[in-house]
Amino acid sequence: MRTHWCGEIRTEHVGATVIVAGWVHRRRDHGGVIFIDLRDREGLVQVVFRPDAKSDSYSIAEKLRSEFVVAITGKVIARMEGAANPNLPTGDVEIEAEQIEILSESETPPFPIEDRVDVNEETRLKYRYLDLRRPEMQRVMRLRHRVVSAIRNFFDAEGFIDVETPMLNKSTPEGARDYLVPSRLQPGTFFALTQSPQLFKQLLMISGFDRYYQIVRCFRDEDPRADRQPDFTQLDMEMSFTDEATIKDLAQRMFAVACKQAIGVDIQMPFPEMTYTESMDLYGTDKPDLRFGNAMIDVTKVFAKTDVRVFAKVMEAGGIAKALCVEGAGELGRKELDDLSKVARTFGAGGLAWIVIKEDGITSPLANALSPEEVKGLIKVTSSKPGDLVLIVVDKPVVANRSLGAVRLALADSLNLRPQLADDDPEAWKFLWLTEIPLVEWNEKEERWDSVHHPFTAPDPRDEHLLETDPGAVRARAYDVILNGWEAAGGSIRIHRPDMQRRIFALIGLDEETAERRFGWFLRAFDFGAPPHGGIASGIDRFVALLAGKDSIREAMAFPKTSAMTDAMTSAPDVVDEKQLKELRISVLPPAEHGR
Ligand code: AMO
Repeated sequence: MRTHWCGEIRTEHVGATVIVAGWVHRRRDHGGVIFIDLRDREGLVQVVFRPDAKSDSYSIAEKLRSEFVVAITGKVIARMEGAANPNLPTGDVEIEAEQIEILSESETPPFPIEDRVDVNEETRLKYRYLDLRRPEMQRVMRLRHRVVSAIRNFFDAEGFIDVETPMLNKSTPEGARDYLVPSRLQPGTFFALTQSPQLFKQLLMISGFDRYYQIVRCFRDEDPRADRQPDFTQLDMEMSFTDEATIKDLAQRMFAVACKQAIGVDIQMPFPEMTYTESMDLYGTDKPDLRFGNAMIDVTKVFAKTDVRVFAKVMEAGGIAKALCVEGAGELGRKELDDLSKVARTFGAGGLAWIVIKEDGITSPLANALSPEEVKGLIKVTSSKPGDLVLIVVDKPVVANRSLGAVRLALADSLNLRPQLADDDPEAWKFLWLTEIPLVEWNEKEERWDSVHHPFTAPDPRDEHLLETDPGAVRARAYDVILNGWEAAGGSIRIHRPDMQRRIFALIGLDEETAERRFGWFLRAFDFGAPPHGGIASGIDRFVALLAGKDSIREAMAFPKTSAMTDAMTSAPDVVDEKQLKELRISVLPPAEHGR
């Protein structure tokens, strides 16, 4: 129906007769002449309708409203002197309409189809098909397309085979709740929607494929967060006869190729590595944002013999003191300091102490309680200067690290510590490998060890002897990719010997019978010659959101769920017919009453 995209018309087309089709972006009447901006996926072009035109095009143009769909035939002409629009790639030309056909009409949309719209997310998601018409959404979806194409081409060139695995499964243990699907033919039984193809990709290694990849939907019933969706997409890969170095090399080259094709940046290679312990000590998190410094400093020694009562009590019970030095932040107001203190408390700290370094001493609620040696020691260890702010948390190690780490991030927001860099500046993309991740962590609530990654991750052979005596100290052969403070990928070398797999199941409290019932089918495969293998999976939605400069992965998905994990457009999840439930032999309990 068209000869050209609206957005591609240029001076070189002047004199040509073209047919363009798209949406009426705007209509303006200028003293008898009607101008419309016509929009398609490639951009806008101006079309002029004159009352003296031979056809009835002018009278049709009078009826045009925003978002009507039209096809227009006309001649490309150069705009008059002074009428060019330098902000529009097509701004030097316009199309003089000869014929127009209205292909469909539109109601007034609930929000204008423009990038700068001031409308809540719920409305945007309810009318997502209109939201996706906005140039910014089109930009992000194309960026996503480039990422996915780059990844496919990369793995194809590296000899990986794309194999699809089932969505309807037995539960896979990625640690989230399962979405369950009732079986009609086996009433009372349920499939679980796959949380990841983990077990299937390991089976494919046992099947001899050696190198597998898939761009795959995964489903996890998790609590909402900006970087989580209930159904999301992974780049999933696995390979045999391999080691950490080979997988890391492949994965970071994949990220490099995708970054180059998506936004034209040459990222720094290889990614730096940081151990889990280092990351917790310096940044209080396992996903450090390295776009700014302000690492935490251990000041436990400074307060070893402190008279500050609150500190002394915690230190006696095995606590530590951690500090953040924020250059030039001595002017921060009470309100900001209170807000930071709230952040620390949210993460479990008893409080947040602050000290402003002055030429002639300090300002701090603790000014009278601190000894001159402590002040001197603090200034030395934190290398702080007059005008700086020092923030301190004294608490159990886990709490001190985690809460001050959260304060560090909150400070970055309020003081704009992250530099504003162009997309193609390698400094804008702080990748790192997180290594030496613990195999298991203690689950206080359920009083047992949980896998940090998943139970198929191999322990570091150097720590195997500790599996039964000191499980918390065992490192896993696992690695995560962190990008600008988000976990962009995670993987590991797997267990390939059934005896070790049983040992790990026992460690995480799966008795033999339960292990057999849940994973017997999987373990059986290891009795037939399993090659050593390992792999990694990356969250595509997260990666695209980061590359597109968005702070929620919803912005990187065409049809995401709302922050309440519902679909604003279809209002799913929804009740179903009684008949459907009967067929599945399911009865629904009434919602729990208040107070029960
Ligand atoms: P993991 O559970 O770490 O590993 O997931 C891999 C990556 O998937 C992304 N991701 C998510 N993205 C959006 N919404 C979610 N709810 C969500 N959950 C995870 C993250 C994460 O790094 N089978 C293993 C991989 C392996 O061992 O090879 C797995 O799924 O970017």
